[in-house]
Amino acid sequence: MFLASIALIVVLFSISYSISAPYREARIADAKRFENLPTPVTQTAPATVEPTQAATPEPTAAPQATAEPTSIPIVIDLTKNEYATNQSGALLPAAPDVPEDIPYEGFQETIVGMPQETYITIDDILYESNERSALNDSLPLLVNSAHRLSEDWKPADLVFMAEYCPSTLMRIKGAQIQGDRAAVDALIEMFSQAASEGVSGWQVSAGYRSWAYQQSVFNDQVYEYQKLESLSYAKAIEKARQYVAEPGASEHHTGLAFDITVPGRTFASTEQCKWLAANCWKFGFIVRYAEDKVRLTGIAAEPWHIRYVGLDAADMMAENNWCLEEYIAAMSGGL
Ligand code: DAL
Ligand code: ZN
Repeated sequence: MFLASIALIVVLFSISYSISAPYREARIADAKRFENLPTPVTQTAPATVEPTQAATPEPTAAPQATAEPTSIPIVIDLTKNEYATNQSGALLPAAPDVPEDIPYEGFQETIVGMPQETYITIDDILYESNERSALNDSLPLLVNSAHRLSEDWKPADLVFMAEYCPSTLMRIKGAQIQGDRAAVDALIEMFSQAASEGVSGWQVSAGYRSWAYQQSVFNDQVYEYQKLESLSYAKAIEKARQYVAEPGASEHHTGLAFDITVPGRTFASTEQCKWLAANCWKFGFIVRYAEDKVRLTGIAAEPWHIRYVGLDAADMMAENNWCLEEYIAAMSGGL
């Protein structure tokens, strides 16, 4: 019986093996086919559109090394409105034949007809002096499109003005408005004096702005010019730059600048505007963007925008009718 069972199992196994053999062989053959396939190569589909222009030819020779810039004697005479010298030391006239509404892109546009490497612009000079001013507390911080603050730059001592300032002296337009403590102290002193002379009704519309906030102010202005004046995006940016500084280039980022207004009035037409222009220097402020300094500041006239620079600087700037760019250049040995 035991032997009969063994024999039956062997017979059944042989039958099953002979039936499944062709399928097994087919599977083995299939596996071998895949083993021998070459590694797939990714191919780029051929371009469906012919380029309309011939490809730029390869340069036939290695580019020549650029010559070292020649050192240029720097002579600036801001009182004569002269910005820089050329290689032979001759003074260049300020902004010859440049229309008033040129976009501000640095001052090189004001020096026409010369290759860029042959002159030093006033921006270059001020950049150096600004570096010096960072080490020298006696010079106020210069912030403009050529001298920008970094994104993470923040004033050390900001106060919320609505809490800090007496509401009897000034209205603060938003609870979130902040300013540098020393500058706000000077503002309080200034408006106290104004009140004692019968000039009141002041409002602070803007103070410290972070980089991100300035970006949104700038974007809003661009959008407005696109929508209201149907300007292209590029033209809207060009125009916005004359009125709103780009992030990093705004004095509002320092906490030392304020926009002063009178509720419900156009500021330029008010007695407050006149009083501010005549008296703010006595308290360490300047009206930063004057009509006759647009070429130096890069910003259209803003009688409402004041900047705290300290008593000595404000005094000297008022005395000489200098804007901040001129004052920094003069203090850095530029004159
Ligand atoms: N309106 C001034 C230039 C600013 O945006 O800082
Ligand atoms: Zn302002």
